[in-house]
Amino acid sequence: MSARVQVQPSGREFIVDGNDSLLEAALHAGLSLDYGCSAGNCGKCKARVVSGQLHRLRHSDHAFTAAEKAAGMVLMCCHTAATDLVIEAREAHGAADMPLQTIDARVRAVRPMGEDMRLLHLQTPRGNRLRFLAGQSARLSIGAGAAASLPIASCPCDERNLHFHVCRYAGDAFAERVFAGLTGADSVRVEGPRGEFVLDEASARPLVFVAFDTGFAPVKSLIEHAMALEAAETLHLVWVASAGRGHYLDNLCRAWSDALDNFRYEPISAPPEASADALAGAALERLRQAHSRLEEVDAYVAGPASCTQAAELLLLERGLPRAQLRLGTAEG
Ligand code: FES
Repeated sequence: MSARVQVQPSGREFIVDGNDSLLEAALHAGLSLDYGCSAGNCGKCKARVVSGQLHRLRHSDHAFTAAEKAAGMVLMCCHTAATDLVIEAREAHGAADMPLQTIDARVRAVRPMGEDMRLLHLQTPRGNRLRFLAGQSARLSIGAGAAASLPIASCPCDERNLHFHVCRYAGDAFAERVFAGLTGADSVRVEGPRGEFVLDEASARPLVFVAFDTGFAPVKSLIEHAMALEAAETLHLVWVASAGRGHYLDNLCRAWSDALDNFRYEPISAPPEASADALAGAALERLRQAHSRLEEVDAYVAGPASCTQAAELLLLERGLPRAQLRLGTAEG
């Protein structure tokens, strides 16, 4: 069966199907609820049932106080909905609401995405998942000498699986370890989340994304989250690839474009010697053709600082309000 759940005080809603827990269903729908272990131990996913009936999925060791029991508190990771529900729960509304966490994650896979690009797929332990908002970054370290701060390229709705796009740079010890071949026996320390390059979920304006090279990583997370929320009328991605790495997930972007009527994808290939101003100008030209009034969109721009700064200047010059622009600056 499926049931509709409304979360107060935000009023946001999600659907619970089958035997998914309330927590799983809320995360898959893009809500940023407070939680920790997902296993009934930490008590962080407490919610108060305002109306409706629950079905318990698993036993919990967490001890509620007498007052909490009397108030109708339950653990969202241990229950599903037996009827439509209204619950009261804590939600994160911005990066400041996210606690800094340290987790030792297992290497699930390292996959090539071109000669100088790797997808690093980490999996956190079942009872210790990373809470983050789409678009945020984490510091990764392998042993003592190999560390890097990288955007999380996956969506928070898949809470245990974290993706990172690792680019090979000369002298980068972390990238060298990844390219030398990590295995399932290796563990990577994840510290985060960090950064404020996150979606403005209160806005219903059309979303435009400009990714320069590996700036695609946080943009991918934002797009997947925006799709889960189904909040934006249209999504428009311009991906400028200049450094010989190409559009290393071009097939994924084309699949989004094929599957969704409201998603537009425009890859731009530029020569390696192109200046940041030229790259930003090319991206802005595509946006200008599609959006006659930039005042009406929210823009998310990510990539090397030289490119994001050039794009920022052009976007503001063409009338985008500063409050509707978010910048994610990547290394390199
Ligand atoms: S997330 Fe820890 S008890 Fe539910």
